[in-house]
Parts: sequence; structure tokens; C-alpha cells
Amino acid sequence: MPESNGHDAKPVSTGGTNGTPGNGNGNGHGSKVATVVAGAKQVQARAVEEIKETIKAPEKTDVWKSILRVKHDETPRSRALGVLSNVFLHLHPAKINRDAVAYKYTWGMGGMTFYVYITLVFTGTLLMFYYHPSKVVAFRDILYLESDVPFGKLLRNMHRWGAHLMVIMVELHMFRVFLTGSYKKPREFNWVVGVLLLVLTLLLSFTGYLLPDDQLGFWAVTVGTNMARATPLLGHAGPFGPQLGMTAFNDVRFGLLGGSIVDSNALLRAYIWHCVAIPIIASLFMIVHFWRVRKDGGISGPAPVVLESEIKEPRKV
Ligand code: HEM
Repeated sequence: MPESNGHDAKPVSTGGTNGTPGNGNGNGHGSKVATVVAGAKQVQARAVEEIKETIKAPEKTDVWKSILRVKHDETPRSRALGVLSNVFLHLHPAKINRDAVAYKYTWGMGGMTFYVYITLVFTGTLLMFYYHPSKVVAFRDILYLESDVPFGKLLRNMHRWGAHLMVIMVELHMFRVFLTGSYKKPREFNWVVGVLLLVLTLLLSFTGYLLPDDQLGFWAVTVGTNMARATPLLGHAGPFGPQLGMTAFNDVRFGLLGGSIVDSNALLRAYIWHCVAIPIIASLFMIVHFWRVRKDGGISGPAPVVLESEIKEPRKV
């Protein structure tokens, strides 16, 4: 496409000065109109031409060049620069060991866990439009969502099944990291970050379970938080708890539920942990986790395979 800023068209005559007609007679006026029309046609033809050129080769336009500020040829340097100068692409390494990203090695489980997490954040945000964390209406909101909201049942089930899937995937990811010995030096710290992510994933599931305020959730959280009574030092039924002055009204279980029974305060607390606090903490730890994968030398993996075509002739001296 010819380089053009759109201002280099021939100036179109407007007749006399200050927009007054040239010589005032009818003929002169007619010829000026014809000149204007001809000029407009020229501009239109050039615009059509430019649109065609833009569709044919958008990468040659100034707009494209201003967004992607690197050459688009197939040299490894340009390709690497393309990755490094793009905010989204630079999250991925410009070069990787091809064997380390083989599905048979990673199972793709870490990445898939992350994508399921993104889906959960998205569907969860949509669910928040219909849900009130109140004992009076929480269960009714769920019934409304299931039966009256367009695609509400699908939305709810995507979130629920996604949550189950995330727990399964994170465990499979941990299992593959264990099987490939990737927890060893220099990745010990990232293993610890991973363990925290596993705990946060389970806590997300647990707090979400109470939100429908159905029998299943109510009793699950009753049983779950009853275990907190037996926390060493901090539970009123745990080792050294009573000696430290713990009772059913000031121990860790009381703190979790906002009371001594699973009731409206517990629902509100579960909601805030589930929709705000844990997602923020988990997202921060995920950023650290991904950053560490890069800093620890990329995904661990078998020694790189060198293809025959890549073997260089030794230099003769
Ligand atoms: C929300 C949960 C998690 C997410 C989203 C996540 C994501 C990822 C991703 C995308 C990778 C890159 C390699 C791959 O896909 O396998 C990775 C690597 C790794 N993850 Fe996770 N992970 C999570 C939980 C865990 C857990 C529970 C552990 C272990 C306790 C763990 C330990 C590691 C380690 C050590 C690596 C480096 C592995 C290597 O270099 O081969 N992660 N994680």
C-alpha cells in the first residue's frame, strides 16, 4: 500500500476567494461543481483502493505497525522480539525446550488448572449478579437461577463442575510434578508455593459449598468447622486449647463462623472468603508460581533432543 497520510490529495478549487462564486455567471458555477464532483470521485476511488490494500495486507498499515512494533519476517530474532515486546505474549518464554512442553511429560495439567480457574472466576462473577449472601434469600436465589434465569442452570453447573475439575487437575498436576522429580533443587520453593495453591483451591471449594445454603452445604460446613474445635492451642477441644482459655465462643471455630453455630454470619463470611479474599490471595500466589517456573529455568524436562538437521559442522581452524 502506498504510504499516505490522507492529506496529499489535490486541493479542490472552491471558486473565488472567501467561498464566493468565481465570476458569477452560470457557466463558471457549473464547471466548479463539476471540478468538486471530480475531486470527490478521485478521493472516493483512492479510499476504495486503500481499503482493498488494507484488507490484502493489514500488516503494512501504519495502525498495525504502531501496535506491533517489530518486523514480521520469519527470522528467529524478529519472532523472539515479537514475543518479548507484547504484554500478553511475554508471559510465555520466547524459547523453550521442546521436550519439556510435550503433553506426555507435563500432562498440561498446570496450564489446564489455570484455565479452569479463569473459567471459574468468570462464571463466579456472573453468578454474583443473581446471588445474595443472606439466609433469607440465598437458597431462593439458587432456585431462581436454576429455573428462571436464562442459561442459569448452565452457568451454575459450569461453576460447580469446574470447581470439581480444578481440584482433580491440581492433584494430577502435583502428582506429575512428583513423578518427574520436579520438586527437587532448584524448584523446592515453587513446590511450597504449589502446596499453598492446593490448600487455597480446597478452601475455595469448601467455602463455595456453603453458599447455596442447602442441606448438603450446611452439614458439610458444620462437620468441617467442628474439626476446627480440635485445633491445637486455638480450638476449645484441642490440645492445650482449654489451658489457653479457649471456649466455644472465642476459639478458631468461632472466628471462622462468626458465631458458635453455622448461621447467617457464617454464610456472609463464607461469601467474602469465597468471592473476594481467597481469589485475590490465590491469584497472587499463581503469579509467583508462574514467575518462579521461569526463574527456575523453565519447566524441568528431559535433556533437550538435538535433531540431526540441527547438528552444526565443527569449525575448521
Ligand atoms: C492453582 C493451582 C496450580 C496452578 C494453576 C499451577 C500451574 C502451574 C503451571 C502452569 C506450571 C508449568 C508446568 C506445567 O504445566 O506442569 C506449573 C509448574 C509447577 N508446579 Fe504448579 N500449579 C498449581 C498447583 C501446584 C501444586 C499443588 C504443586 C505442588 C505441590 C505445584 C508445583 C509445581 C512445580 C514444582 C512446578 C515446576 C515443575 C517443572 O518445572 O517441571 N503446583 N504449575
